[in-house]
Order: sequence, then structure tokens, then C-alpha cells
Amino acid sequence: MKVIEVKDYAEMSQKAAEYIIQKVCQNPRIKLGLATGGTPIGTYKNLIEDHKKNGTSYQNVTTFNLDEYIGLPGENKNSYRYYMNEQLFNHIDINLNKTNIPKGDIKDMEAECLRYEDLISKHGGIDLQILGIGSNGHIGFNEPGTSFNSITHIVKLAQSTINANARFFNRVEEVPTKAITMGISSILKSKEILLLVSGENKKEALSKLLNGEINESFPASVLKNHPCVTIIADKAAVAGLKVHS
Ligand code: GLP
Repeated sequence: MKVIEVKDYAEMSQKAAEYIIQKVCQNPRIKLGLATGGTPIGTYKNLIEDHKKNGTSYQNVTTFNLDEYIGLPGENKNSYRYYMNEQLFNHIDINLNKTNIPKGDIKDMEAECLRYEDLISKHGGIDLQILGIGSNGHIGFNEPGTSFNSITHIVKLAQSTINANARFFNRVEEVPTKAITMGISSILKSKEILLLVSGENKKEALSKLLNGEINESFPASVLKNHPCVTIIADKAAVAGLKVHS
């Protein structure tokens, strides 16, 4: 794993955007894996700015998001479909038909899991997956204890994840308790992974990732098994940690 240490959230967002833009320019048909949460918002802002200023085009890019809440239709302001449209897709020239997010509001969710996994394979897999990390080490919505062999599946969210995400909702009771997420194995199939880590509240998770064992009780630790992972982490997240790049 290569670790790039940056000053703060703004620099992390800028560096991450530069990284993505370079990949899109090299391969305009790139398959991008995208994440939600607070961490990538600044990165998406930078992508939009660059698109407006320099005309980087996403017309031929295909995207696959990691996860979606169960029970929220795409029109719901807290769904990840709504988030992606608002934070990125509506402001660049991407074809919305090429943006894929698991659906959280259909009857047969088991079938949706299979459809989504299959869809990614049919497109030849993801070239670059952007990831955030939960303070309990979750990636996507793969909570501690998830099998490293998991493919797209339904999860019951950990209470700590519900509490952490309550900031986006009016009340904690409104946070869905279940989600559909790409599995650990689905994520690991990506050719390249870019993990973004910012803030003091992620310091412990980053420390476990860099210095701890590879174990299903800490999902992000599986990234050590992947040959091409870059971590961009800010000072607040890295402070005092031993970083071997
Ligand atoms: C969320 C998402 C993850 C995200 C993580 C961290 O629940 N499902 O994809 O990476 O938790 O979120 P944040 O960036 O808001 O700290």
C-alpha cells in the first residue's frame, strides 16, 4: 500500500481529484467505483471544477457505486442515488444511464444483489475504486465480521454506523437499518483502489489498517491483500502513526 500524506481535507480532496482525472484522461472509457459519505464530497467538488474549467469529459465513463440504503428510493434526499446526482453527476457530462448504484427499494433484494454483481462483471470489472473507511473499519457497508469472500449482499448496519450517518438525517431513527453493498470480494476485484482518509476520528481505523493484522473483524485490513492500493490521508488522520509506504 502506498500512503500519501497530505496537509488537510482540502489537499486530500485536490490530490484525489487529480489522481482520478489523470486516470480518466488516460482511459476515457474507465469503469470507476464510487463511494459516498462525507469524505469524497470535496473530491467530487474538485472534479466538477476541473470539468468546468478544463473540460475533462466523463461521457464514456461508467460508474458503479459501492452501496445503497434499503428502503430509500432514488428520489429520497438521503439515498445514495440522490447524493451522487447532487454531489457529482448533475454537474458533469456523464451519461446517467452509465451510472450504476444498487437499488434499495425493490421487492426482490436478493435478485438485485446478483444483478449488480453480474453487471459489474459484464462490464469487465472496475478499473479504479474510490473508498472511504468507517471508524470501525468498514468499507462500503461491509461491517466487521463480513466474510472476505462476500459478493454484493444485504447487510444489517452496525449501531456505530447508524450513529455516524445520523448527521445526514433529521433524526437517528430515520437512518435505515439495512443496506445493499458490494462485498469485500467484489471490492478486491477492482484493478486499483484509492482510499481516502481524513480527520482525527479516522486515526484509530488508519492505525489498525497500517499496523494491525489482516482479519475479518476489521474489514479494511483486506486491502493489504490487494496489489495496487493508494491511501491519501491527511495529517489529522496520520498524526503520530508509523507510516510505511
Ligand atoms: C459510510 C459509507 C462508506 C463510507 C463510510 C465513511 O457509511 N457506506 O462508503 O466510506 O461510511 O463515511 P464518511 O466518509 O462519512 O466518514
